[in-house]
Amino acid sequence: MFSSSQLVVGVDIGSHSVKVCQLKRADKAYSIVTLGSAILPEGAVDDGALVEPEVVASTISSLFKNLKIKNKKVGISISGYSVIVKKVNLAVMSEKEMEDHIMTEAEQYIPFDIQDVYIDFQDLKTNKDGYERTDVMLVAAKKEIVDDYLNMLESIGLQATIVDIDGFALENTYEYSTPKTENVALIDIGASKMNINIISNGMSVVARDIVVGSRQLTERIMGQFDLEYEDAEALKLGATAAEDKEKELQDIYSSVCNQWILEIKKAIDLYHSNFSDSPLAKLVLSGGGSKVEGLIDYLNQETNIEVEQFNPFKNMKFSKRKIDPDYLKQIGPEMAIASGIAIRPSAI
Ligand SMILES: Nc1ncnc2c1ncn2[C@@H]1O[C@H](COP(=O)(O)OP(=O)(O)OP(=O)(O)O)[C@@H](O)[C@H]1O
Ligand SMILES: [Mg+2]
Repeated sequence: MFSSSQLVVGVDIGSHSVKVCQLKRADKAYSIVTLGSAILPEGAVDDGALVEPEVVASTISSLFKNLKIKNKKVGISISGYSVIVKKVNLAVMSEKEMEDHIMTEAEQYIPFDIQDVYIDFQDLKTNKDGYERTDVMLVAAKKEIVDDYLNMLESIGLQATIVDIDGFALENTYEYSTPKTENVALIDIGASKMNINIISNGMSVVARDIVVGSRQLTERIMGQFDLEYEDAEALKLGATAAEDKEKELQDIYSSVCNQWILEIKKAIDLYHSNFSDSPLAKLVLSGGGSKVEGLIDYLNQETNIEVEQFNPFKNMKFSKRKIDPDYLKQIGPEMAIASGIAIRPSAI
């Protein structure tokens, strides 16, 4: 049994909003303690980097206060140009030998100066009997970017004991919610990026971040109708009526969604060209962008693969007195990454 204090609070700092999720674990199941999100001012976070750390800090601080979260140990997740995830094939060796090898050879795998990055790795232990080589997942993240996050959190009394990667967090939460081992593509469409992670036989085989997202829709609407950001966002979300703008809006949606679908198809093609004997069973969508009306059906038509919207809380208990089930259902897709961070124990 783990108590809630041993799980970190998952904090997903996106370019549109911060999502926070706190879970509790009993036996093998998780239940939700609390969760919530807060919108960030435009430009406070850009391409995975903190542009305005004070603004982000005060947003997170208020969110923790509102949600009455006392736990100071948090986990965050990073993505974007400052992170490199790479699978390399190495000779089988002990953990210590592998660490020495990676630290001396890292420059051949990573396009950054070794002094400037934090490096982590995991032996996937793919060596079968008689083979002397194994796949190793290598992660390098720019110190400068990671330290900015750590310092920002420290300024509000929070300690980040886990720095996760968006794609891994997504995989983590999906595997908890769906223990079957099908081949799936996990696709998180946020405001400014799309993260695609294809899992085959329980392993990530295609992983990429692409700079597209729901913010593109907002920007196109701003341009087309000469609107301010907030007004365009409201029109996009249907909070203000489309009226005579319906046709033009549809055109914007089609053109942007077609671009997303093209990127998704490219990743699927890459997967199928390497794993032609194990076809993808499903596409699982998360992130605010996955809520675009009609996207799921359209993607299904275009790929002929089953598409579903991800609900990370499907198998989790919660108090209906504290958390409105409708809110939970609505926020579920955006909470995918935060929930994936929140199932990590704080002591690793
Ligand atoms: N129903 C909807 N239709 C279209 N877009 C939506 C809808 N609901 C939310 N969004 C958009 O989803 C985005 C927010 O999603 P999310 O919280 O996943 O992004 P983020 O994590 O902050 O961004 P990123 O990960 O790209 O940095 C916003 O652009 C928001 O307008
Ligand atoms: Mg996001």
